Amino acid sequence: MVLHGLSTRHHIVSSFPLFSFVLVAFAQSPAPSSILPAPGQPKLTGTLGGFEIHGNSMASAQQMFLGTAKTAYILDKAENNPPQINGHPVWASEYHIDTDDARPMEVVTNTFCAGGNVLGNGTWLNVGGNQAVTYGGNPTNLTINSPPYQDADGGHSLLDPCDDQSCNWVDKQANDLTTRRWYPSVETLEDGSVIIIGGNTMGGFVNAADTSNPTYEFFPTRGDPIHSPLLDRTLPANLFPHTFLLPSGKLFLQLNWATSLLDYRTNAETPLDDIPDAVRTYPASAGVAMLPMTPGNNWTATILFCGGTNLEPDQWVDNWNMATYPTSTSCVTITPDVSGSYTHEDPLPEGRSITNAIMLPNSKLLLLNGANTGVSGYGNKSWSIGQSYADHPVLTPVVFDPSAPSGQKWSREGLSASTVPRLYHSSAILLVDGSVLVAGSNPNADYTTGVPYPTEFRVERFYPPYYNQRRPEPQGLLASYSYGGPYFNVSLSKDDLFGDVRNVVNACVVIIRPGFSTHALNMGQRFVQLDSTYSANADGSAVLYVSQVPPNPAILVPGPAYVYVVVNGVPSIGQQVMIGSGKIETQQVLPPIPLPSSSMLLDKSDPNTDPSNDPSNGKHHTKSAARPSFSISRLHRLSLLLTHSLLFFCLFVQ
Ligand SMILES: *[C@@H]1O[C@H](CO)[C@@H](O)[C@H](O)[C@H]1NC(C)=O
Ligand SMILES: *[C@@H]1O[C@H](CO)[C@@H](O)[C@H](O)[C@H]1NC(C)=O
Ligand SMILES: *[C@@H]1O[C@H](CO)[C@@H](O)[C@H](O)[C@H]1NC(C)=O
Ligand SMILES: *[C@@H]1O[C@H](CO)[C@@H](O)[C@H](O)[C@H]1NC(C)=O
Ligand SMILES: *[C@@H]1O[C@H](CO)[C@@H](O)[C@H](O)[C@H]1NC(C)=O
Repeated sequence: MVLHGLSTRHHIVSSFPLFSFVLVAFAQSPAPSSILPAPGQPKLTGTLGGFEIHGNSMASAQQMFLGTAKTAYILDKAENNPPQINGHPVWASEYHIDTDDARPMEVVTNTFCAGGNVLGNGTWLNVGGNQAVTYGGNPTNLTINSPPYQDADGGHSLLDPCDDQSCNWVDKQANDLTTRRWYPSVETLEDGSVIIIGGNTMGGFVNAADTSNPTYEFFPTRGDPIHSPLLDRTLPANLFPHTFLLPSGKLFLQLNWATSLLDYRTNAETPLDDIPDAVRTYPASAGVAMLPMTPGNNWTATILFCGGTNLEPDQWVDNWNMATYPTSTSCVTITPDVSGSYTHEDPLPEGRSITNAIMLPNSKLLLLNGANTGVSGYGNKSWSIGQSYADHPVLTPVVFDPSAPSGQKWSREGLSASTVPRLYHSSAILLVDGSVLVAGSNPNADYTTGVPYPTEFRVERFYPPYYNQRRPEPQGLLASYSYGGPYFNVSLSKDDLFGDVRNVVNACVVIIRPGFSTHALNMGQRFVQLDSTYSANADGSAVLYVSQVPPNPAILVPGPAYVYVVVNGVPSIGQQVMIGSGKIETQQVLPPIPLPSSSMLLDKSDPNTDPSNDPSNGKHHTKSAARPSFSISRLHRLSLLLTHSLLFFCLFVQ
């Protein structure tokens, strides 16, 4: 039997059915990209819902990012780490995911509290950071190659990641930053350049008027730094500003209690509401992430904040016992292109600071790392735990399902605790196999052992509950993606659809930028679901017709990212792809070619495809109240018509 569907592209084109002669014409558009080989299966079996200790990072992972599918890069502060390189301690390394080996790297500048992100041409950038130091983290002269570490004042370092151990950080020692910045945030823009925001000139626990750098600038440079009044009026807790490029092209900025939109083209700032309940920026260090942008929500950006600390500006002084101060359970969201007000979300099961929010390919958000009391930072205080300003590590992660009904969004079902406290200066990133790399923690001025929260070199992997399932092996994914333009076809076998072709309605293609992880942020992290329709075949296989990236580089900026096909919440192994032209330049935007209609051929002889058997029953993606209530059986009773609503099964975020 054939079910003919309507176009799902109701938000771009009207929902009239498309005829096959039109589709043939579209399909003749030239292919914009080479086709990737089908991904395989994970190399390991993981401890589901739990952590495993895997390797040694050589330097503590204060900063971490995924440079290629197989290689993560780690940056620490200059300190007395035992591993050596070129006659001095190591403070950067390359971590090989498949072998759990690390290679020491020379990075030259003191990368302590630097920011980072990836440019549109695939080069990673590390900017700002501390001055040169000696033992104990004590400052030395601001010279290049200062003993004992041969470090230099934080600057611009660039890396072109590699899999053959041949790549190295290239440092611009004189540094292209016009001004000094510790704790800057870095966000990639529509043309693949970056904006570098805020920070201060001399470091310290929090910012201060005499050391603040209340400006932003660009790399590659666009001239002198530009003053930001917001950075002046949000002292002292305004370091590492929460910064997200929005689909409108404006930048969302959240720091201390304040929120603003910045139009970086005109330098105009528009205040939005203050954030309720808690400070979310460093040192309160809440978890923060943009939720999935999907066809179902018209790729609208909603940002979630969870945890942090409810301190007023005059309380950010470390002359009182901050380590026992309770953290916040509050979670809020804001959809800044739609409204300047925050909405309360389900609170966390316990308060948390210094926590990383990691988007998983199944469109859920994993919160891990952090502490139940205290804040980021360290010092030699009578009350500090060793030197840590935080205590009571929260060892069990918790997962947020944006599509679950209110009151049921957080879950710990099937999750177990880590054995490794991850406090200040820890980090986490999504890997291509859908596990999460977790490393770092060093709430100490220097390399320190024998304290409750030592310098941590142990690297862990967290294995989400889907990890050991057979992964889809989609054929036909592209190696690079344009903004709009022709659609492409991805084939899924019967096995990829878990033996039931109707699972194709739960299949989607997602592109994830895992981001640059530091200080409870993953700068540049983003999850974008591509638009798609399907054609399900009688032999149990199916084809997804998949749109390119939405025709707006502010939704997904140019540069490297990872593509996954997700069926019933089980992701394929991600593959690295290039979004846009691979150059820092104004990106070409094409009109999206409309997708063919969805259609399904059901083989009535196969009991698995009995239409009274709702394919969504008991599957991962069925918990949402927002999810449409269609089932195949109802569709059979109703005029055999599939509607676009079915496509929301993949994500449930409306
Ligand atoms: C989706 O968002 C775009 C702007 O990004 C807007 O032009 C369009 O009207 C929206 N579509 C719907 C259906 O809301
Ligand atoms: C994609 O599928 C459509 C519809 O079946 C077909 O017309 C087109 O030729 C296919 N495109 C490619 C590149 O195989
Ligand atoms: C990317 O652009 C930056 C800034 O212009 C440049 O330094 C870097 O070498 C470029 N990378 C590649 C791979 O071209
Ligand atoms: C704390 O004490 C250690 C050990 O005495 C010293 O090396 C370090 O400089 C001190 N750090 C701070 C931040 O005061
Ligand atoms: C700073 O530089 C001066 C001049 O080179 C030198 O005398 C002094 O010892 C240096 N201080 C430190 C802390 O390295």
